[in-house]
Amino acid sequence: MATPGYRIGLVGATGQVGKAFLKILEEGPREDLPIAELRLFASERSAGTMMTVLGEAHLVHLAAPDPHVFEGLDLVLTAIGDDLARAFGPAIAQSGAVNVDKSNAWRMDPDVPLVVPEVNPQAAASHHGIIAGPNCSTTQMVVALWPLHQVNPIRRVIVDTYQAVSGTGWRAVDELRSQNTAIAVGSTPEVEVYPHRIAENVIAEIGGLRDGGAYSEELKMIDETRKIMGEPALAIQATCVRVPVMVGHSEAIHVEFAHEMAPDEARAILSTAPGVVVIDDPRAHDYPTPLQAAGRDPVYVGRIRRDASHPRGLSMWVVADNVRKGAALNAIQVFELVARNGWFRGNRDARAPFGNRVAVSAR
Ligand SMILES: NC(=O)c1ccc[n+]([C@@H]2O[C@H](COP(=O)([O-])OP(=O)(O)OC[C@H]3O[C@@H](n4cnc5c(N)ncnc54)[C@H](OP(=O)(O)O)[C@@H]3O)[C@@H](O)[C@H]2O)c1
Repeated sequence: MATPGYRIGLVGATGQVGKAFLKILEEGPREDLPIAELRLFASERSAGTMMTVLGEAHLVHLAAPDPHVFEGLDLVLTAIGDDLARAFGPAIAQSGAVNVDKSNAWRMDPDVPLVVPEVNPQAAASHHGIIAGPNCSTTQMVVALWPLHQVNPIRRVIVDTYQAVSGTGWRAVDELRSQNTAIAVGSTPEVEVYPHRIAENVIAEIGGLRDGGAYSEELKMIDETRKIMGEPALAIQATCVRVPVMVGHSEAIHVEFAHEMAPDEARAILSTAPGVVVIDDPRAHDYPTPLQAAGRDPVYVGRIRRDASHPRGLSMWVVADNVRKGAALNAIQVFELVARNGWFRGNRDARAPFGNRVAVSAR
């Protein structure tokens, strides 16, 4: 008899997000996500290698945007580049599996739900085979903003980010490491990934330049936040900055509410909010740092204080592990959401021995 559980595919298994996803699975069984099969995929570079997951050796298969490759799978995470994800999504959906994609390929497609389970879980019910996860910097921001917005509607957000190099991919992590080493031994650091040296520097540019002077990461934060929070007219401005940190994005967020909100009230709301941990004792130098957030699940919030420039404003400091919370854990949470609610496409009871898998309603 087949092992009961879900059959999970992972395209981009050898990348940072893929490895973080596998690490979370290794940390212990997840009640809503028992695993019957794990099928790993990567490019020609890594295909044919073996990866050990949960004590079992798994072959890394060559990925191809072909439905046959994904046949029999229930849930497939794509943690690959945008262009690849655009090709893989329809093939995975055609195979009958649900594709959760971490790239930018589908996020703003009106037919694709963009889901952060702490904020808009219900959106995942109406997928057509593809569910997108937001940008890492958006994820941690909306997890912190949403509980406050429920109590006191947010009118305007200004966010400045301090983003780790791991947000760019493993090549950028290697580049920061090798630049640090080159500086330490007195040689000239090589610059390939970013337009400037990142070691001992700060780069006010993430993504491609768009009309009006914004970079694409800034527009992603604006558009995705509006879509996830269901507030298409929310006033929001972002400045996204790369800093020489390996893991952990930090954000200075300035929020204008409909009504005045005391910092203590915000602290009380956030301290019981799902996925949030408040660390806020500045006298003891206690506030979130990326080093502290690295490898952990929560979105950490601190430095909650009045905004001296606005009577209905609050400022706060929000930090999370961009690879884990910003991508891998979000994907696992979406898998769990789909599994728990049976939001698969078509009834697959015959294949999977548990779970009431009913067709999702067409929109
Ligand atoms: N890093 C973050 O913090 C973060 C957060 C949110 C979203 N994301 C998004 O998640 C995606 C993955 O990011 P990452 O940081 O994990 O990137 P990464 O470390 O550069 O890994 C990329 C992965 O894609 C695989 N790949 C490359 N070409 C492929 C192909 N033709 N077919 C199948 N697989 C292929 C690579 O496999 P090989 O080993 O064979 O090269 C590798 O496993 C990106 O879209 C990124 O924007 C990343």
